[in-house]
Amino acid sequence: MASELFELSMLGGAVERRYRRLRPEVDRLPWGTLDVTKYSAAVLNVARTTWTEAAFQEHRTAAACAATLKALIAARAPLDLIAMATRFPLDEMVHVEMCARLAMELGGGAPLEHDPLDLIREPDPKLPALLQAAELVVRNFCVGEALSIPMLRGSWHAAGHPLIKAVLGRIVKDEAAHGQFGWFFLEWAGELLTDADRTHLAQQAGLTINAVTERWKQIKPLEDSQDPERLGWMESASYVALARRSMQTSVIAPLKRHGIDVAAWLAS
Ligand SMILES: [Fe+2]
Ligand SMILES: [Fe+2]
Repeated sequence: MASELFELSMLGGAVERRYRRLRPEVDRLPWGTLDVTKYSAAVLNVARTTWTEAAFQEHRTAAACAATLKALIAARAPLDLIAMATRFPLDEMVHVEMCARLAMELGGGAPLEHDPLDLIREPDPKLPALLQAAELVVRNFCVGEALSIPMLRGSWHAAGHPLIKAVLGRIVKDEAAHGQFGWFFLEWAGELLTDADRTHLAQQAGLTINAVTERWKQIKPLEDSQDPERLGWMESASYVALARRSMQTSVIAPLKRHGIDVAAWLAS
C-alpha cells in the first residue's frame, strides 16, 4: 500500500471560473461565518476530523460514481439513464470542495493518509459488462447513496450553525437524484438479470452493508450535548441510531422488492 497524504488543490484562473459557472451556488454559501473562538478545542478537533473524513468520503464517492459511469457506458445501458449519471462525479467534486472548505474554516484539515490506487473496489473484470455495471450500481447507489440520503437529511435537520446547515442542504439537494438512480437502474435491468446474477448482487450488497456496519462500531459517539451545534455531526449518538434504521428501510427492504435478498449475507 502506497500511503499518501489526502491533500487537495485548485488551479484557479480561467479553470476555476468555468467551474464556478457550473456551480455558482457554492460561492453563495455563508463562508467565513464560523467563529472558532466560541468552541472548545475538543469540539473543534472532532469537527475538523469529521469534515476532513467527509471530504475524503466524497472524494471516494466521486471515484465510485466515475467507475459506475464507465461500466454503464460499456454495458450500453439506456442513454438517458447514463446521461443522468454523468452529473454525479461533478456533484461529488463539489461536495469534496464544500467539506474541505468547512474543515479549513474550523481551523484546517486533519492529516489523513490514503492509498490513491485503492480508492474503490472494482468488480471482477471477467464478469459480463451488464453484471459489472449492476454490481457497481448496487454497491455504490442502492447501498451507498441510498443510505446517505436519510443520513444527510437527519444531519441537515440537526445542524445548528447556518454555514453547516447550508453545506448539508446543498449536498442533500444533489443526493436526492443519486439515491433514486440505483432503483431506476434496477427497474430497467430487472428482466435482464438471471437468478445467478441476483445471487451475486445480493452477496455484493451484503458485503458492502457489512463493511458499513463495521465502521459504525468504530465510532465512539459523542453525546449530543457535547456538541450542541453539531459541528461534528457524524460523531453523534443519534447519527448511529438513524443509520441502523435507515439501512433497513432505505436499503435492505427496497433491494428485496427488486429481487435482491441480502439476508443470507449479512453478518450477525
Ligand atoms: Fe456526495
Ligand atoms: Fe452522491
